[in-house]
Amino acid sequence: MRSLIDIQELSVEEINDLVKCAEDIIANPAKYSEMCKGKKLATLFFEPSTRTRLSFEAAMYELGGNVLSVSSAASSSAAKGESVADTAKTISSYADIIAMRHPKEGAPLVAAMNATIPVINAGDGGHNHPTQTLADILTIHCEKGRLDNMTIGLCGDLKFGRTVHSLISAMSRYENVKFYLISPDELKVPSYVKKDILKKNNVEYVQTSDLEGSISELDVLYMTRVQKERFFNEEDYLRLKDSYILTPDKLKTAKPDLSILHPLPRVNEIAVAIDDDPRACYFKQVYYGKIMRMSLILKLLEVVK
Ligand code: CP
Repeated sequence: MRSLIDIQELSVEEINDLVKCAEDIIANPAKYSEMCKGKKLATLFFEPSTRTRLSFEAAMYELGGNVLSVSSAASSSAAKGESVADTAKTISSYADIIAMRHPKEGAPLVAAMNATIPVINAGDGGHNHPTQTLADILTIHCEKGRLDNMTIGLCGDLKFGRTVHSLISAMSRYENVKFYLISPDELKVPSYVKKDILKKNNVEYVQTSDLEGSISELDVLYMTRVQKERFFNEEDYLRLKDSYILTPDKLKTAKPDLSILHPLPRVNEIAVAIDDDPRACYFKQVYYGKIMRMSLILKLLEVVK
């Protein structure tokens, strides 16, 4: 029985294998349509979500399985004070696999330590979001045809953006990947990410607040939302929320084959006028998220080896 809590738990070979399986699902969907028949996925979401919860559920239905869903803390016994450990033990009697989102960092790990079925971290606080990273990786692979030899710009809230931390962690392990970390001073990437991932692995990076001055260098631009829900002070959020707004004008010096990603939801970081630009990949990324979650469910349930 295996869970996925942190993207570092997957080797590069395992990530490449998940990508290969996902690309086969895209090419041959009928082959997979009954593979999880009789299996149940429980989605336990104690924090709001549109894409992650519904894509997990769509993924399980497209594999022929079924879904049990808790869509908010208020609608479960967590509201009465039940612990994550007891919830995980309970759900182990009802389902074959759990996808859990929780505002507390480490809650999915506690669930995995207490469940008797695999647990997938669907986002824990400002910490990690491994399945978004798998979606991002599949998007990059489908758009670029490779996962190495590229310059990736991450722009916006690099402090609280859990998708950023997971993506740096995963892409740092591919050859010749360089990062531009573009943020206001207050929202810089946490020091543990620089020390334990970038410096430890000798990964080249540039830290800057200048999006327009960096954009011409980039093969991938990963825009992020300023994470309102993680701020202690509304005044700080209001001051920082519109730090970066990508407009057609700012793309003038960008490469013609730049890929623009965003984990979504978007608030104001990318002008709607960019949606029709062929370089905009964020709605394709949503589709790839569902496919990659199908691939992950199949692997964790050991339906495919
Ligand atoms: N990208 C992402 O996690 O979106 P949701 O919050 O809608 O699940």
